[in-house]
Amino acid sequence: MQLGTRHLLGIRDLASADIETILDTAVSFKEVLQRPIKKVPSLRDVTIVNLFYENSTRTRISFEIAEKRLSADTVNFTASGSSVSKGETLLDTVNNILSMKVDMVVMRHSATGAPHFLARHVPATIINAGDGINEHPTQALLDAFSIREKLGGLEGRRVAIIGDIMHSRVAMSNIQLLKKMGAEVMVAGPPTLIPKHLAEAFGVRVEYDLKTALQWCDVANVLRIQLERQNQVLFSTLREYSLAYGINKRLLDSLGRQIHIMHPGPINRGVELDSDVADSGHSLILEQVENGVAVRMAVLYLLSGKS
Ligand code: CP
Repeated sequence: MQLGTRHLLGIRDLASADIETILDTAVSFKEVLQRPIKKVPSLRDVTIVNLFYENSTRTRISFEIAEKRLSADTVNFTASGSSVSKGETLLDTVNNILSMKVDMVVMRHSATGAPHFLARHVPATIINAGDGINEHPTQALLDAFSIREKLGGLEGRRVAIIGDIMHSRVAMSNIQLLKKMGAEVMVAGPPTLIPKHLAEAFGVRVEYDLKTALQWCDVANVLRIQLERQNQVLFSTLREYSLAYGINKRLLDSLGRQIHIMHPGPINRGVELDSDVADSGHSLILEQVENGVAVRMAVLYLLSGKS
């Protein structure tokens, strides 16, 4: 089994058959992760660097656990504490690391296109773990895996992506993946946080009323407001955002139907999600995190050339 691409830079470059292959392979790895001995020798002798220029909790730990479960040799790099502070460029940093015989690089960077730049200039396989506001492909794959597992498929399922769509690489990867796999997609939030071109470019519905969006969907994938990426005032206050777009149990109970709630994390409790939803039976949030390890094992295995 092989993918039609050497790197995973974005969902944009994946064919639907590749997405299917990754999700099916992840099913097998999820089964491995239920065993008493959760380790397989698939990536023995493969060396992977996790190169994180931007903060992460879930993605970095998830990749590291996936690599260890596959018996790869791993090295972790974070920009803080490195020679980046002395002025070393991205390319110099990576070429120095690669001269130590590294096969694969998992990379997160605040600049859109940073992993694409690396893929053009270095011989290793590059996996994008989030680049600026562009893409976060493994998050979309683990979200799709979680929906497929819960609802039995993606085709025809209704997914509403709610919140700060404008600054979200999770939204961009999810929209593209879900549309490729035949799901119906809605984006919902304040008009100032939804790019105008989305409906025409990707064929998604746009909704500004939260309750209408929740009544329409099978799954709501809720995003946080990314204040760190905003350089202008796009809504009045977090309090007002929460009143219009925050999801709580009272609102879910008023829908008269059951929906599933997803969130890529980190959650801003009391802003986009209240704890009575985040910690309830509606929530798939910790299942998403669990599934992330199996999905990343599948991506690493399929791109390693060992499959
Ligand atoms: N979902 C996600 O990317 O979380 P982290 O920023 O903690 O990796």
